[in-house]
Amino acid sequence: MSERKRVLTGDRPTGKLHLGHYIGTIQNRVKYQHDYASFFLVADLHMLTTKHQREHIDQVNEHARLMVLDAIAAGIDPHTVTFYLQSGVHELHEMVTLLQNLVTVSRLERLPSLKDMARDANIEMPYGLLGYPVLQAADIFCVRAHRVPVGKDNIAHVEVAREIARRFIHLYGEVFPVPEGEVGAVPTLVGTDGQAKMSKSLSNAIFLSDSAQEVERKVSGMFTDPNRVRADIPGRVEGNPVFIYHDVFNPNRAEVEDLKARYRAGKVGDVEVKHKLAAAINTFLEPMRERRARYEQSGLIEDILYQGTLRVREETKTTLYAMQKAMGFTGVWNRMRRKAESYQEKTTSTPESA
Ligand code: TRP
Repeated sequence: MSERKRVLTGDRPTGKLHLGHYIGTIQNRVKYQHDYASFFLVADLHMLTTKHQREHIDQVNEHARLMVLDAIAAGIDPHTVTFYLQSGVHELHEMVTLLQNLVTVSRLERLPSLKDMARDANIEMPYGLLGYPVLQAADIFCVRAHRVPVGKDNIAHVEVAREIARRFIHLYGEVFPVPEGEVGAVPTLVGTDGQAKMSKSLSNAIFLSDSAQEVERKVSGMFTDPNRVRADIPGRVEGNPVFIYHDVFNPNRAEVEDLKARYRAGKVGDVEVKHKLAAAINTFLEPMRERRARYEQSGLIEDILYQGTLRVREETKTTLYAMQKAMGFTGVWNRMRRKAESYQEKTTSTPESA
């Protein structure tokens, strides 16, 4: 098979994406899309492992739409990448049932990420959460992905998927590749409040969908050097969120170096530093705003997800059938049917009452 290699990435549907997501993962996904046949899944079944209330489920459509719209606005080309909704791939459940015997409970119980998720959600470990990596393995096998770029908390799950794949191949034969997980150097972006991580729940995020005015407002409220109470006091550049953002988002190096030098010398006000930062972030977001406007029309994102899901269903049917065949499991039902049919033929051709 001279098919292009395949990449699968995805996220649980949490809604809008922010600058931290862009730096952490989206940027890499944009780079990958032309070298591989890429799939991008919206993992709503994985969301259920910690959020299964009606209110969460009712939000999936909107969250999926916002997430995919942001990803497309950020440069992921929907003509190249297949976006899909996990819960629309019904064959996935059947695949999970076949895979779940190839990993032990104690192996899964040892994964810190699952315990962390249960603790963060304030719940006792549900059976489904323990099986999170098995479902993730099924996602990977559905599309027969070779590479799976993930965040560092997820790399252990891909390791479980590799073990399940090797086990399957050893027992039944090669149906899908042993996937390679890879953690990008996922840099975390500080929040506008100086907290370690930009996050929607901490209200310290600048969203890819923020308007120019919102960006200005958020940047002007940003945390800087707390010791610098006046513009003529020398300030600290290192670890200062305003300068961290300048380094990431302002391509005008000369301007950034000039601002840093004057900041250290107490010769520039926060207002100017922030004003220039807001301008740089807006320049960075402007092409995204244009792409977003083109995809915002009602139903288009849903159509992209719907068509992609149908495509992945076909892929999954192919993989699932190949798995069942390799396992000899198609034979069980076929033998049953043949016997039943020949019994029926016999009994209807020789009526007992004759
Ligand atoms: N576990 C991922 C997350 O934390 C989402 C996910 C589900 C995923 N299935 C996947 C990622 C398969 C990569 C491959 O959101």
